[in-house]
Amino acid sequence: MIVANRLPVDRVEQPDGSRGWRSSPGGLVAALEPVLRANDGVWLGWTGGADETGADTEPFESDGLRLVPIPMSSEDIEEFYEGFSNATLWPLYHDLVAKPAFHREWWESYQRVNQRFAERAAEVAAEGATVWVHDYQLQLVPRMLRELRPDLRIGFYLHIPFPPAELFQQLPWRRQLLEGLLGADLVGFQLPGAAQNFVRLVRQRVGHKTHRDLVYLPDGRTVRAAAYPISIDWEGYQELARSEGVVKRAKEIREALGNPRTVFLGCDRLDYTKGIYARLRAFGELISDGHLDVEDAVFVQVAVPSREQVEQYKILRDDIDRLVGRLNGDLGQIGRPAISYLHSSYPREEMAALYRAADIMVVTPYRDGMNLVAKEYVACRLDNDGALVLSEFAGAAEELRQAWLVNPYDLNGMKAALLEAHTADERELTRRMKAMRRTVAQHDVAAWAEGYMADLANAGDHHAKPLRPLKSR
Ligand code: F6P
Repeated sequence: MIVANRLPVDRVEQPDGSRGWRSSPGGLVAALEPVLRANDGVWLGWTGGADETGADTEPFESDGLRLVPIPMSSEDIEEFYEGFSNATLWPLYHDLVAKPAFHREWWESYQRVNQRFAERAAEVAAEGATVWVHDYQLQLVPRMLRELRPDLRIGFYLHIPFPPAELFQQLPWRRQLLEGLLGADLVGFQLPGAAQNFVRLVRQRVGHKTHRDLVYLPDGRTVRAAAYPISIDWEGYQELARSEGVVKRAKEIREALGNPRTVFLGCDRLDYTKGIYARLRAFGELISDGHLDVEDAVFVQVAVPSREQVEQYKILRDDIDRLVGRLNGDLGQIGRPAISYLHSSYPREEMAALYRAADIMVVTPYRDGMNLVAKEYVACRLDNDGALVLSEFAGAAEELRQAWLVNPYDLNGMKAALLEAHTADERELTRRMKAMRRTVAQHDVAAWAEGYMADLANAGDHHAKPLRPLKSR
């Protein structure tokens, strides 16, 4: 059983007014679908809309997947999703890039909604089933579920960074969250540093004995915390990038941009952690300094609308709108804007065409769990060309060492890296891209899911005798 905040389908209105579902084929769905099918699995999650009655709980099937909807009222959406998940935990876990808001009502709502997920999972799970809980919205579920169903094997995976103790301990409910996660047999993170942060916090704040990646609980259970860097459907992206439709569309995109010499590209959810503002400023300065010319360089920025009711996201949108307007007004020429700004989401095919059309991909978050866009770009560069400028603070930087790595807080450093990537010769580009392609090909999303599931199968021991306590470190 997969338990995640969202189901892998979007609700769509049929022409006759009835309700229907369209699968949203993200990387995670592609990875987990085969595991679910092979194990007669089910996916539990929110449908994405408000349900004031809470009655919409009937399991249904979509494209052969068994799905169990968890209803949320508009109050749940405001307090649990927009509030505690995205205005408290999200900024706290991303290095305080924005100031987290701590509200006791939001915490109440987070507990209530996590309990709802846990109770429904407990009702639906078969005897001795394996349950894999995902992400920061559901950190209390492992413990709540274990209390209801001690027979289950429970895994948890955090898709976003896990902060250092110095930041995490600001949270008024820090101990409860740690104890929530300790309900799992295996707690997975993107990077080893995050797993270490977690184990250290458990030792300091909950007082359990720990040794390397293991936590020893007083009831005899052992919890493991380890890193499993997530990845993409490598074969799927390769196939897409080589398809006739995508090749043709990439050519059309470059033509529509006026066939410039260099296309820079940024693709992000419109989120303040992504560093969109600073990267556009860096590009603008390269033009105003005379290093680049709007006649032969353009920056295409795709900003996917996200969490639009949350205050910080509204402010960011206005800031970016203003910056793009100013840069285009100051630097653009007729038919040649400096920035081609698209506030919209696009299907995978269009994204693959954009990756193919772009000479330089710019991924500069202030903090990011992994950043799959960087890996998708690499997968679509079938000819080993194109450059990746990547923030040191994206999880992907630990694997994609041959990118031009930048500190997104250092504007001059970013400008220098953009210029270097712009002037790099073909040999240099090929050398870097080849190495990055090898890395991503070897560590695709299927390997990620298999690696995690194999470790979960071996993790924990429900019937273990209490372990001899280790000397506390
Ligand atoms: O990266 C964390 C994450 O929750 C992803 O799982 C998700 O695709 C993305 O952020 C967008 O989240 P939301 O569900 O808030 O639209």
